[in-house]
Amino acid sequence: MTEKERAGRNQTITLTADEYISFEGKLSDFKGKDNVEPDEIINKTINNDLLDVIDAFPKQFADLIVIDPPYNLTKEFNGFLFKSSSQDQYLEYLRAWFPKMVSLLKPNGSLYLCGDWKCTSASQQVMEENLTVLNRITWQREKGRGALHNWKNAMEDIWFAVKDTKNYYFDVEAVKQKKRVMAPYRDNGKPKDWEETDEGNFRLTYPSNFWDDISIPYWSMPENTDHPTQKPEKLIAKLILASCPKNGLVFDPFLGSGTTSVVAKKLGRRYCGIEMNKEYACWAEKRLALADTDKTIQGYTDGVFWERNTLNAQQTKKVQR
Ligand SMILES: C[S@@+](CC[C@H](N)C(=O)[O-])C[C@H]1O[C@@H](n2cnc3c(N)ncnc32)[C@H](O)[C@@H]1O
Repeated sequence: MTEKERAGRNQTITLTADEYISFEGKLSDFKGKDNVEPDEIINKTINNDLLDVIDAFPKQFADLIVIDPPYNLTKEFNGFLFKSSSQDQYLEYLRAWFPKMVSLLKPNGSLYLCGDWKCTSASQQVMEENLTVLNRITWQREKGRGALHNWKNAMEDIWFAVKDTKNYYFDVEAVKQKKRVMAPYRDNGKPKDWEETDEGNFRLTYPSNFWDDISIPYWSMPENTDHPTQKPEKLIAKLILASCPKNGLVFDPFLGSGTTSVVAKKLGRRYCGIEMNKEYACWAEKRLALADTDKTIQGYTDGVFWERNTLNAQQTKKVQR
């Protein structure tokens, strides 16, 4: 734990020494256990290497599994260096644990696997070896400077698959988007399929598999931590609302700073996450504690997902409620 100097408006979630001790006490550790009961994992953050504990987990307990593993890049996660390797080696890495995750999924469950362009072919392959792939979502992810000798990477993939194509949960009504209408069409002088408000003209639309309405967490956002690859709550909220029923259970084996568990809690789902780094796992617990009193998910207001740069309109809606 190192204390950094931060600007006044910086909302990054950090831990005091006392908080670290207190949240560490909330973590579960199953190393060496042969059998873990469902009650022991519900609403828990498990601080282990997933390979050390996953075989002891109950089978078919999860309605939804969200997997955001290290990508095929050299990256440091608080002292753990994940090294970039060949496509074949990365595929072998995925194959070492992916089928174990599938065994934890209910027969009518869904699974999402994240990746970037470099690992997406291995991600697709391991998904197709074990499940039926229904879609590939592309998230336009704007961050960082351009590359000098290549195109800047500004996308990630989220592969979507199910066990049983005839029986899986999908609630498209729960993930509608509220978009600004650029060329409003009127019928007999009345807005056609859009709404005229003081804050502008908006239309409710069904979501596609191209997501360009989600920012990466940054220092002035209340969900931000110092985790190097934190996913936005808004992105995970779409996956959970679409693919996990209320009170269902969401599992994330690479929990990081806790985004999946935190969003599940905010949306009234149960959760379970594994994270091998203790400090990250404590950040997750702190975010879960904060979610007791603040269920806000930036960009998701009034049951719909808003475009970027519509905060004023969203705040007006909140006041009107
Ligand atoms: C890409 S990050 C996930 C970030 C997360 N989605 C969030 O929003 O913060 C991957 C995480 O997996 C953890 N990790 C890597 N290998 C692991 C393993 N074998 N068992 C448990 N955790 C692991 C890393 O420490 C890292 O925090």
